[in-house]
Amino acid sequence: MSILDTIRAKARENVKSIVLPEGEESRTLQAAAILAREGLAKPILLGDPEKIRAAAEAAGLTLSGVTVIHPAESPDFDRYRDALYELRKNKGVTLADAARLVSDPMYFGIMMVKFQDADGLVSGAVHSTGDMLRPALQIIKTKPGIKVVSSSMIIELKDRSIGSDGLLIYADCVVNPCPTAEELAHIAISSAETARVLCGIEPPRVAMLSFSTKGSAKHDLVSKVQEATKIAHQLAPELLLDGDLQFDAALVPDIGASKAPGSPVAGQANVLIFPDLQAGNIGYKITQRLAGAEAIAVLQGLAAPCNDLSRGCSVEDIVNTACVTVVQAG
Ligand SMILES: CC(C)(COP(=O)(O)OP(=O)(O)OC[C@H]1O[C@@H](n2cnc3c(N)ncnc32)[C@H](O)[C@@H]1OP(=O)(O)O)[C@@H](O)C(=O)NCCC(=O)NCCS
Repeated sequence: MSILDTIRAKARENVKSIVLPEGEESRTLQAAAILAREGLAKPILLGDPEKIRAAAEAAGLTLSGVTVIHPAESPDFDRYRDALYELRKNKGVTLADAARLVSDPMYFGIMMVKFQDADGLVSGAVHSTGDMLRPALQIIKTKPGIKVVSSSMIIELKDRSIGSDGLLIYADCVVNPCPTAEELAHIAISSAETARVLCGIEPPRVAMLSFSTKGSAKHDLVSKVQEATKIAHQLAPELLLDGDLQFDAALVPDIGASKAPGSPVAGQANVLIFPDLQAGNIGYKITQRLAGAEAIAVLQGLAAPCNDLSRGCSVEDIVNTACVTVVQAG
């Protein structure tokens, strides 16, 4: 069974409501119909109900089991506007600004999640990553004890001898361009949780990657990874985590044993923490293209789950991302 099949099966066991702010967009509409029909989620589409109904009819879609909400005409509009104003007035947001923002389906959807009127949100078929992330960061904020929102890339390799039966988690590949040592430590802890919750990886073995193994090279960049390792140990002493480790020392048993003898992670890592976004983003794309791996992006560390799509996404990508969000919400 592929990881996506596993995630779909988990979603079906504990169905959650997922708000899709880009409700008038055709791929989103089709995905909502599939999610409802297959019992994977309770989809909520935001947009003009007339336009949504007309588009559904034209596409021959049935929207039974799909809730449609027009943000500006919703009975919750005033409640969300006032709450947004309270949350952001110290950042210069006026009541008029809050009203304008809440009429935007993206902000309305984020407010639904904030108020637990929806269990999670999926967006990005039309909006950029930043447009979706910014309101989530400003309003939903981080989970208690977690300082930074980040992302994990679930990597599914053809070679099942690597990682956890062919599964690896790479982080952070999407959000934080240049994390501090403390932020790297929080990214590592969130990624271990993603490995457990979404992939059933037990135990997560977290490698803090560098171009050095156990101080084999001296540089400020290496010191940052060593500092992050120390902080992560203090924050989560029970977690199997080690660094600094080179990629091969993290993954290849013989090399791990010779370069980092006695490490609980070296040679058997299944969660790989890259030192910055350039390394993480390049690393996952190399794996995807050269090893023919599947790569599924997941946001982590938010107080309630929201996930981003790529603008080139397919209907299937939206369905899969909604299922990931359902499992995170569960
Ligand atoms: C995430 C991102 C969009 C934030 O951009 P931004 O608007 O410049 O962010 P700001 O610094 O103005 O912060 C906005 C708010 O989010 C918070 N924030 C920013 N990054 C955060 C993070 N990683 N975790 C938690 N909160 C964060 C800030 O504290 C701020 O909160 P406040 O307004 O309540 O004070 C930005 O980091 C980014 O563009 N990252 C790279 C995304 C990208 O292009 N990826 C490419 C690969 S697909």
